[in-house]
Order: sequence, then structure tokens, then C-alpha cells
Amino acid sequence: MNKNNFLNLETIEKASEFVANQIISLVNSKPNCVLGLATGSTPLKVYEYLIEDYQKNKTNYENVITFNLDEYVGLDKKYADKSYHYFMNKNLFSKININLNNTYFPDEKNSEKYDTLIKSKGGIDFQILGIGINGHIGFNEPPADLNSKTRIVELTDSTIKANSRFFNEESDVPNRAVSMGLWSILQAKQIFLMAFGKSKKNAIEKLYKLNDFDPNLPASSLIKKDNVIVIVDQESSFY
Ligand code: GLP
Repeated sequence: MNKNNFLNLETIEKASEFVANQIISLVNSKPNCVLGLATGSTPLKVYEYLIEDYQKNKTNYENVITFNLDEYVGLDKKYADKSYHYFMNKNLFSKININLNNTYFPDEKNSEKYDTLIKSKGGIDFQILGIGINGHIGFNEPPADLNSKTRIVELTDSTIKANSRFFNEESDVPNRAVSMGLWSILQAKQIFLMAFGKSKKNAIEKLYKLNDFDPNLPASSLIKKDNVIVIVDQESSFY
């Protein structure tokens, strides 16, 4: 990717609509496409646009296959509604006609087979990514390994702190997760990384200025790849 691959679409609404429209065109042109999905606050509006479009235009998700990026490991039962699985069902899957048997999540048991499973379905056509304030993508924390596959990872203190807003206590945030690796993510045919709000500005600035992979900024693994678009809003944009 080069510097022209950074798009400032000014507002979360415009940026999310742009990404949603890319997904809708793909689903219409390739009804059995494979989507790589992310959780967190960043993609929420994209999912809202997809639902709105589904209600209006009946875009058909019957044969679409999805792979989520990551999931917590060891989540206490009382926080079942904080799982990424729950998040996807609530914010997207239950509101479109996707077949839940075609929706995949990494977990402790399947982590070693997850990349092979993705490949067996034809590979990810379109990957959505958010970014952590420390530059992580999925749960690939710094220092990150360019060759990492889907595996169990330890979360850093800064990620636990950032994600504690969804829990009663910081100590309730799981300290482990299962995440697609950088290698796994880089296999996608097209990647859209979205970064909204001023907390992401620093990571985006570093990403923009780097010319090569820096393990301390996991998102910089995308630099050597062509088909990557970084979409920012006015608050996360520094240029
Ligand atoms: C989480 C997730 C990432 C996500 C990131 C940003 O820890 N593992 O996949 O992109 O943090 O989250 P948010 O979009 O809520 O800022």
C-alpha cells in the first residue's frame, strides 16, 4: 500500500457507508463470498448499514461465509454477552439472512485448524479490520510476528484497560484470546482497515509514516500489501 491508500472520509457515517457499499457489491457479484469480520465499536455502523440495506434491498447472505478475527478465551459465564460470538449475532447475523452454519469463530479447540479452514472455503475475499490504540489488529499485540497464524495470545495491559469499558472491573477482562495471526490476515484478497476517533490518531500517524513492518505496530504488517485501504475520520486523521 502507499500513502494514497489512506482515505479520510471525514465522518464515521460516510466511512461506514463506504465500506458497507463495498461489501454489498461483493455479496451481489459473488453470492458465496468469504468475509473476514471484526468486532469492537469501529465496525458497528458498517453492520447497521448492511442491515438497513438488507431490509430495503434484500441483499442475499444465504451463501455468504464469514470468519471472525478473534474471540476471548476464558470469559466468565456472567459475561457471556461480551463474547465476540454474541456481538456478531446481536449486531449483524440475527438481522440478515445469513446461515449461522457458515459463520466461523476461532476458539481454543479449532485455533490450529482455523487457517486451513479459511483456505478450504476459498480464502477471505474482503477483510474488515479495526485497530487498537497500540496499533494491534485482531488481537495481535506488539511486538508482533509477521508469520503468526491463528493461535492463543496474551493480551497486553493497554488492551485489557481499553476493553475494560465493557466489563464491571478491569480484572474481569480475560487476559487471553484466540486471534487470527498477521500471516492469516495478510492472506485476504482485499483489506479495509478503519480507524475512528482521536484515540486512534497516534497509531494511524505511525502507520502512515512507516515504510516497512515494525513489530511494535502490528498494523504495519499491511504496508507491504497492495490491496489495503485505510479509512479514517476527521478525528483520527492527522494530515
Ligand atoms: C479489540 C479487538 C480488535 C479491535 C480493537 C479496536 O481489542 N480485538 O479487533 O479492532 O480492539 O476496538 P474498537 O473498535 O472498539 O476501538
